[in-house]
Amino acid sequence: MADKLAKLDLGGKSLEYNVLEGSTGPDVIDIRKLYAQTGAFTFDPGFTSTASCESALTYIDGDEGVLLHRGYPIGQLAENSSFMEVSYLLLNGELPSKDDLDDFTYTITRHTMLHEQLMTFYRGFRRDAHPMAIMCGVVGALSAFYHDSTDISDPEHRKISSHRLIAKMPTIAAMAYKYSVGQPFVYPDNNLSYTGNFLRMTFGVPAEEYVVNPIVEKAMDQIFIVHADHEQNASTSTVRLAGSSGANPFACIAAGIACLWGPAHGGANEAALNMLREIGTPDRIPHYIERAKDKNDPFRLMGFGHRVYKNYDPRATVIQGMVRDVLGSLGINDPVFEVALQLEEMALNDPYFIEKKLFPNVDFYSGVILSAIGFPTTMFTALFALARTVGWVAQWNEMISDPGQKIGRPRQLYTGPTQRDYIPLDRR
Ligand code: SDX
Repeated sequence: MADKLAKLDLGGKSLEYNVLEGSTGPDVIDIRKLYAQTGAFTFDPGFTSTASCESALTYIDGDEGVLLHRGYPIGQLAENSSFMEVSYLLLNGELPSKDDLDDFTYTITRHTMLHEQLMTFYRGFRRDAHPMAIMCGVVGALSAFYHDSTDISDPEHRKISSHRLIAKMPTIAAMAYKYSVGQPFVYPDNNLSYTGNFLRMTFGVPAEEYVVNPIVEKAMDQIFIVHADHEQNASTSTVRLAGSSGANPFACIAAGIACLWGPAHGGANEAALNMLREIGTPDRIPHYIERAKDKNDPFRLMGFGHRVYKNYDPRATVIQGMVRDVLGSLGINDPVFEVALQLEEMALNDPYFIEKKLFPNVDFYSGVILSAIGFPTTMFTALFALARTVGWVAQWNEMISDPGQKIGRPRQLYTGPTQRDYIPLDRR
C-alpha cells in the first residue's frame, strides 16, 4: 500500500490514486486505472507533466542543472571516463572493471564494419543529401542484414543488436561525410580507439597515413559522452514507442534518428552555429535578442532553452570549458566563439530570458568545437545521433526487458464533428 495518496473528485465520485516515489526526483501519481474508473483521460500534449515510464538510467534535475548517468554526474564522467566506459555503464548499470571494459571495447571494435552491400545504399543518394537523411535510411536498412538477431525476446539477440548499432554508427556517419565530399570510404582500423577510429574514417584518405590528434580524440570522446543519454527526450520517447510494438531495434533507432533531426531537438546544434555565423559580430547580437523575444517573429535563439533545464544545462558547461582548450590547442581563433560568449552574457542578463529561465543547452557551444575539428554543420546532428545511439539502445533494452511492457497507445481529446450521415455527391 502506498504511503501517499492523491484524491480526485470527478462525476460525483471521490477517488484515490497511489503516489509513487522514485529513488530521487518528483513523485508520480499512478493513474493507470483512471479511465476505467472515471471514463476520463488526462490531457497533457507535449507531456509536460507526464512520466511515460520507470527508468534507472539517467536522472535530470532541471532546477539544479544536474545530470546523472546511473548516479554519476556528467561533469565527472566527461572529465574522468571515456565514451566506451559510459556506454558500458548505461547498458550494464555499473562502471566496468578493466577486464570488463577491455572485453566490451574488443566486442564493439569488431562490429564496426558494414556489410559491403550497404555501400550501394550510399550511391543511391545525391552527393548533397543531408547526412541525417542517409543515417535514417542506412540504419533502417540494417534490419535487412541481421535476420540472425531480431528476436527481441532473446536477451542474446538484444545484446548483439545493441553492440552492432553502437559499433556501426561511427562507420555509417563517417561514410555519410565521405560520400558528401566525394572521397573514398575509409574502412575501420581495429588498432584505434572507438573515437580515434571514427576520426580516421572521417578525415583519413587512402593516399596518406592518418595520425589521430590526441587533443581532438579526447574532445570528440567528451562530446560523445555528453550526448550519450538524456532521460525521456523526444527521440528517446520515439525509440521507446516504436519498440513497444515489437519493432526490431534497427527500425527503432532509425525512428529515433528521424525525431532527433528536428531543429527543436538535435538539429539545434546545426541551427545554433548557423545562427551564430549569421549574427557574425557582437554588435549585431541585440537585434537577434529582440527578434527572439518578439512573439510575432518565429526566430528563437537556437541552443537556448530546454523543456527540463530551468538552469544551466550541465553539458553546456562541460562543452564551453572544452572550447577554450580545443581552440587554444589547435591554434584556432574562431570569432564565432566570442559571439557565443557575448550572446550568452547578454541573454542571461535580459529580463525575458531570466523570467522564462532560458539558459544555453547542450547545442549552444558544441558546434564551435565540431567546426574547429573540421566537421561541416550538416554533420553536427549526425554526430549527436552517433553518440545518442547508446542511450537509445540502453533505454530500448530497459523497456523490452520489463515483463510488464505493453504497446504504447495514447488517447485524445476529440473535438471533430460528431456522427453525421453521408451526403451523396448530387445533393452537396
Ligand atoms: C535538445 O529533451 C531533451 O532532453 C532534449 C536534449 C537531449 O539531450 O535529448 O537536451 C537535446 O533537444 C536540447 C534543445 C535544443 N533546442 C533548441 O535549442 C531550440 C531552441 N529552444 C526552443 O525551441 C525550446 O526552448 C525547446 C524546444 C528546447 C523547449 O521548448 P518548451 O519546453 O516547449 O518550452 P516553450 O517552447 O514552451 O518555451 C517556453 C517559453 C515560450 O514563451 P511563452 O510562450 O511562454 O511566451 O520560452 C520561450 C517560448 O517562446 N522560448 C524561447 C526559446 N525557448 C523557449 N524564446 C526564445 N528563444 C528560445 N530559444
